[in-house]
Amino acid sequence: MSRRLKVVQWTTGKTGSAAVRGMVGHPILDLVGCYAWSPDKVGRDVGELAGIDPIGVTATDDVEALLALRPDCVSYMAYRPNFDHLERILESGCNVVTTMYMLAGHGYGEEATQRIREACDRGGSSLYASGIYPGHAVMVAMAASAMCSRIERLSVLESLDIQGYANEQMFRAQGFDLDPDDPAAYQACESACGSFKEQVPVVAEAMGVEVDRVGFRVEFGVANADTDFGFMTLQKGRIAAFKGTVFGEKDGRSIIECSFVWKLGEDMTPNWPVTHGYVIELDGVPGVRVRLEPQGDHLDGTVTTAMPCVNAIPMVCAAPPGIVNHMELPFVRGIGQFRA
Ligand SMILES: NC(=O)c1ccc[n+]([C@@H]2O[C@H](COP(=O)([O-])OP(=O)(O)OC[C@H]3O[C@@H](n4cnc5c(N)ncnc54)[C@H](OP(=O)(O)O)[C@@H]3O)[C@@H](O)[C@H]2O)c1
Repeated sequence: MSRRLKVVQWTTGKTGSAAVRGMVGHPILDLVGCYAWSPDKVGRDVGELAGIDPIGVTATDDVEALLALRPDCVSYMAYRPNFDHLERILESGCNVVTTMYMLAGHGYGEEATQRIREACDRGGSSLYASGIYPGHAVMVAMAASAMCSRIERLSVLESLDIQGYANEQMFRAQGFDLDPDDPAAYQACESACGSFKEQVPVVAEAMGVEVDRVGFRVEFGVANADTDFGFMTLQKGRIAAFKGTVFGEKDGRSIIECSFVWKLGEDMTPNWPVTHGYVIELDGVPGVRVRLEPQGDHLDGTVTTAMPCVNAIPMVCAAPPGIVNHMELPFVRGIGQFRA
């Protein structure tokens, strides 16, 4: 892991910008290029796009020019995947880390998964998907499970007022601001939870247990008044919060649970309390609870999402070809992050 690694950042949205900030000055990683999806970002300095001083790297939409830099890894953090790009990157021999958890599973369909696998084979490259949730919060749960002699239920809860993430496109896709009686609201939220549906079998396999069924349930909290959050507005009577779970059942019992309480603000009914972080529970012997919470009042979700991917880059570059998951890598940790 002492060899320096060349990295190309793919887009500079919320998480992509945090990834750039996490790579600048890194002792092992060299940010050598950046792909821009937005035409108005092409030609601009990547540091500037990520909200820091210029770093002398310019964003481009020229995929071949980026691959000609012979990067070891692409940090792929676009809003939606472009499979032509992914195929081209992987078959060129460049590895990929991504916050799109479903890229490592089957959520985009078998044809997409097959394209990725075959591109990895052709290029001898690997793809790893993580983030905070799905992703690293569950790794922490699994690390805690090593203390147990018996486990009845493993659950992870993400419990946040998400307005700090300020992503209107994502929140509307999740179903925020829809009428709670609109069937599209349930469907939107279930579809947004597709990555949790991918995560449950990964945890089950890692824990050596089989689940018979993966299910989903959700309740809605409704805004008491029209509210302007700056980046989007919510209308009175529309969805302002979700409380739900994706669960894996065995013999009719829920044994693996990925739960969430996502809220926009406080003025809603019901107004579920949030813990501003992650609560991991293992029911068993012994029962264990782990909390991932901010030291101040805000856990920056862009950083906690990006860094489990950025910090995995050295391990992913050393991994065997193919789609690799948490269980196939050494324990991902913040190597080199003790720095000024
Ligand atoms: N696992 C986790 O914990 C976790 C948590 C949060 C998010 N995520 C996932 O991480 C990815 C990035 O999230 P984000 O919040 O950083 O996203 P974002 O800021 O909304 O978008 C990232 C970038 O994608 C490009 N983009 C925008 N609209 C697009 C579209 N319709 N099709 C293709 N590209 C588009 C833009 O590139 P430019 O920079 O060129 O403008 C944008 O800046 C998403 O897939 C999200 O679901 C995972």
